Amino acid sequence: MIVERSDPLLGRCRYVADLGGQQVAHPVLVARRGDRFDATIENRLPQPTTIHFHGLTLSEAQDGAGFEAIAPGASKALRFEVKNRAGLYWFHPHPHGFTAEQVHAGLVGLLVVTDAEDAALDAALALAPGNRVALALADARVAGGLLRPYAPSAEDCLHGWFGNRALVNGALDAQVPVSNGWVRLQLLNASNARGLLLEFREHARDGGTSVPFHLLGTDGGLLAAPVPVVRVFLYSAERVDIAIDVSGRREITAVSAAFDPRHQARDGRVAHHPARDQYPPLAVDTICAPGSGRDAAYFLPDGAELALFTLSVGGAAGAAPPPLPARISTLPEAAAAADAAPRRMRLDFDERTGFLIDQTPYRLDEIAFSVARGAREIWEVRNSPISMPHPMHLHGFGFRVLRRQGTFGPARRLASQSSGRLPTDLGVKDTVVVWPNETLWLALDFALPKDAAFRGRQRYMFHCHNLEHEDGMMMRNYAVL
Ligand code: C2O
Ligand code: CU
Ligand code: CU
Repeated sequence: MIVERSDPLLGRCRYVADLGGQQVAHPVLVARRGDRFDATIENRLPQPTTIHFHGLTLSEAQDGAGFEAIAPGASKALRFEVKNRAGLYWFHPHPHGFTAEQVHAGLVGLLVVTDAEDAALDAALALAPGNRVALALADARVAGGLLRPYAPSAEDCLHGWFGNRALVNGALDAQVPVSNGWVRLQLLNASNARGLLLEFREHARDGGTSVPFHLLGTDGGLLAAPVPVVRVFLYSAERVDIAIDVSGRREITAVSAAFDPRHQARDGRVAHHPARDQYPPLAVDTICAPGSGRDAAYFLPDGAELALFTLSVGGAAGAAPPPLPARISTLPEAAAAADAAPRRMRLDFDERTGFLIDQTPYRLDEIAFSVARGAREIWEVRNSPISMPHPMHLHGFGFRVLRRQGTFGPARRLASQSSGRLPTDLGVKDTVVVWPNETLWLALDFALPKDAAFRGRQRYMFHCHNLEHEDGMMMRNYAVL
């Protein structure tokens, strides 16, 4: 697998997966649970890089989190077994201080993991060929069909980099051809910072009527049962697996519907990462610098309506598609924690440093806390009232959302349960949004595989997946002992 820079004027880079001599950009890899992954990463960027497999349970050596970056010109072997449940996982660079720029440049790949339950669901949906699709949705600043390079202002670094157009697996104005019947979509929000409120509309040009769909799964695979929905929030790095019946329709547009993005904090600064000074940017000036407002012509605020892609339905309308199965997976129970007090984390805003976890800027050599191998814990993650939504991500382990409190109105209205959980909280998660003034309780199980690779201390990270926040130090390391 080669990581290289393509046209620097467009600010685009790509992963080129070298598959037996065939070079594929924007790779979508498919593995069965239990398969071995075996690749060599060659870094042809002018900056350090790593590849992190987001959502997979890997040893520290294979997690690619940036403890050991791959220098320009160097290579690294990646070898592991895919042990996770079937689901949509993904991979992207994670060298601290360069993550946002490299991901924005297009260094994103998808990994679809399948297993017997996943195959049984496809069979039950009687999916036509081409009706199962995995898509990475991202936003970029586009003018005249060209991408503007990544050059964030201080304002962009504080709130995140927002574009004006959607890219789907790297393409603008994506049309996805499908045929009548069920369509199964596995969608990743690969944006640096933009939250999406995913909705499907028919006749979108005349305002449109929304087409309901079914939530099948979340970050870490299938739910126990499908949940009917009309719209779901999908923040950076979150995934959804959905089924939508397109029978008898011609064209359905996926949009991010307008919502209040809850950016409450203003006028802060973000810490600048010193490692940045030693390497050139991928395209023009890409360092968070004070001054300069926003690239206003190419900026669409977070929460504004944004068209994502269009499903164009072909083929003759046949018989009605089969009913959705009532059970679709044996979702593991949320681990019951011991009676120990929850581990508390606070997401704070400070005008001098921007957003931080527990008021502590990231340091590569710091370990915020250690957990015992096999321990079960409850984490209480609280966002301050003067803040913005933070999609918080945990490396190494999926978790379950137990409860939300203090959720703001429009999100709260999507909750189906007295626990305040949203439909997207009902499955295995590795990234979860925490809105301002909200508190989440998460159940974690730190059981690691028994292989040699996982022996000894393993370091992982917990961070905000708004990538400007991640590079801006909203990250902590923890260790499993
Ligand atoms: Cu998607 Cu720490 O990463
Ligand atoms: Cu990750
Ligand atoms: Cu954040």
